[in-house]
Order: sequence, then C-alpha cells, then structure tokens
Amino acid sequence: MPLVSMRQLLDEAAKGGYGVGAFNVNDMEQIQAIMAAAKETNSPVIIQASRGARAFAQDRFLFHLILAANELYPEIPIAMHQDHGNSFETCKSAIELGYTSVMMDGSLKEDGKTPSTFEENVAVTKKVVDFAHPRGVTVEGEIGVLGGVEDGHGAGGSGLEHITDPDQAVEFAERTGVDALAIAIGTSHGAYKFSKKPDGSVLKMDVLIAIHKRLPNTHLVMHGSSSVPKDLQDIINQYGGKLKETWGVPVEEIQLGIRNGVRKVNVDTDNRLAITGAIRKVLWTTPEKFDPRDYMKPAREAMQKVVATRMTQFGQAGHAGDYKPISIAQIAKGYADGSLTTQPLVAAR
Ligand code: G3H
Ligand code: 13P
Ligand code: ZN
Repeated sequence: MPLVSMRQLLDEAAKGGYGVGAFNVNDMEQIQAIMAAAKETNSPVIIQASRGARAFAQDRFLFHLILAANELYPEIPIAMHQDHGNSFETCKSAIELGYTSVMMDGSLKEDGKTPSTFEENVAVTKKVVDFAHPRGVTVEGEIGVLGGVEDGHGAGGSGLEHITDPDQAVEFAERTGVDALAIAIGTSHGAYKFSKKPDGSVLKMDVLIAIHKRLPNTHLVMHGSSSVPKDLQDIINQYGGKLKETWGVPVEEIQLGIRNGVRKVNVDTDNRLAITGAIRKVLWTTPEKFDPRDYMKPAREAMQKVVATRMTQFGQAGHAGDYKPISIAQIAKGYADGSLTTQPLVAAR
C-alpha cells in the first residue's frame, strides 16, 4: 500500500465517526512503536515529524524509515505529515520529499514564536494550499494560537491568550481551502498544560463545539492533546526524575471533541514520558547495564502501550482495512475536478 493522503484518512474517519491519533516521531524506535501498536489494534495511522525532528534525524533517514514501515506493514494506511510547518519553504520541502500531508502553522510568524495577523495567516496558508493540492497533498491550517513552547516552537503563555474565534475560523476555512483545521481551545504543547484537572474555564470545549456547529463538515484538529497520565509522571520521578505535578487533556474531553468534529488528535508528550520513564527505570535499577538495547527495547514497548491505548480510545482501532487507498495522483485529480471539496459547509449562527 502506498503512503495515503491524510485527506482520505480523515474523510474516512469522519464517515466512521472516529478520531485518528497523530504521533510525533524522531527515530526508528518511535516509528516501530507506532507501527506495532497499529498492527496490534488494526488502526490507520498518521505519523508526523516536526521541523526539529527532521533536523535531528535528517530528512532522508526519517523518510526512508517511514517507507520501511510502509513496506513492512502493507495492510496499514499510513499518512506522513509535516507537523507545524513555519513557512511555505518548509512545507514545500516536505512535499518534495514525499510527505502526503503538511501543516502550515501560519498562526505564528516564521520565527515560530510571534503570533501573526489573520491576514498573514490566510496568505501563507493559501499559498501552501495552492502548491499542495495540485500535487495531491493535504493541508492542515491553524487559527488561534496554542500555549507553551516545545523545542523553541510556540508563543509561550497558558493557551488562553489566543482562543479561536468561531467567526474567524469560518472565514479562514473559506479563504484558504484547508483540508483540516487546528483550533486553539486552551491547550498547550508539552507536559505543563494545566495546574489541576482542567474544567471549562481553562479547556474551552464549548468553543470547539461552537466551531463544529458553524463548520459541521470540517475536520478539526486538537493539538497539545497529551493526557500526561499520572502513572507515567510517577515512573519518571520514582527513578530520579524531577517533574512537577501537572495535568494534561483528559481522554474523555478528547472523546467529546471527537463527537464534535475532531478527526486528528496530536500526541507527542505522552510518548516522550513513556520512553523516558522506561529508560530511567532500567538505568536506575540496573546501573551496570550499558547496552542501549537493554533500555531502548522497554522504551519502545512503553510507547507502543501508550499509542495502542490512544488508538482504542480515539476509535481508530479496527478501521485499517475499511478502505482502499486512493493514489496521490488520483487525489490531485479530485481537487482539480472539485470532487474533493475545499469549500467548507457553513451553518448559520
Ligand atoms: O508540536 C510540538 C511537537 O510536540 C513536536 O515537538 O518541535 O520538540 O519536535 P518538537
Ligand atoms: P503534546 O505536547 O500535548 O503531546 O502535543 C503534541 C502536538 O500538538 C504536536 O503538534
Ligand atoms: Zn502541535
């Protein structure tokens, strides 16, 4: 099976009423963990790489690792996605490498830190759509700004400063023609999202529902969606780590999102926690060990467990074989002849 279009994968998720986890990768073991979890749960997958990941692993290493996953698991639909592209050039380079989907995060300027204006966001996102769609590549845009900073990317803050305005979301979707829309509802990247279990004053599920009511057919994306489970925090701290107490996005809130148009759920931090906890445990309890396989194997297994759990919770489990992948060339034709719509259905306020 060739790499599939993320648009097709999300259209199918909408038909089936489920969400799809988009898991970040930086190395071979993370890709192996995701694929093992996908096989275990029979799930379609979105594998995504940030700019930091592409620099860390090197583009061609990372891309060929994904192709290896594709060869080894032909029964699993895989979309390969650029996470948080900061510019047209970043997205173009991902498309030229062979990614089947890109995120143009025009909510921030090219520095990846400073919030941009609405007009700047529309202009750069539209430019990416105009380049991507004729090549059959899916585009995710972002309206509103998330909190937190990861690897130098992010505006910082609590996530409440730039919550998405539903009217702007409608205008953004209409003017850009994006396939998927990331919205800001109070979440942040990283482990430190909330200082207690979040309620509606900090996690704005009401805003998400309002956006879904206005854009009932638009695939919504939740970033910063790690749940930061206490047991994973505890393992790290038990074996010499120093994480402060923190809360993530409860899975039941993500499931509420999925019932209201969320089709892509971004998760990175939970996997980082699982990997780090497993490595710490081996090094702390058996300090005589020095073969990386002794700690990378449990780390990979710990990540597989988190990913398989999320795949089941998001509802994508069991859906890998539901559909035949449409070739990227065919997807490009679909955009050209209008059978793949890029104009959102807009409901009255
Ligand atoms: O959006 C942030 C993801 O967690 C990727 O983080 O930029 O540190 O690779 P990164
Ligand atoms: P977390 O930091 O909550 O895992 O979010 C990841 C993300 O949004 C990647 O784009
Ligand atoms: Zn993100």
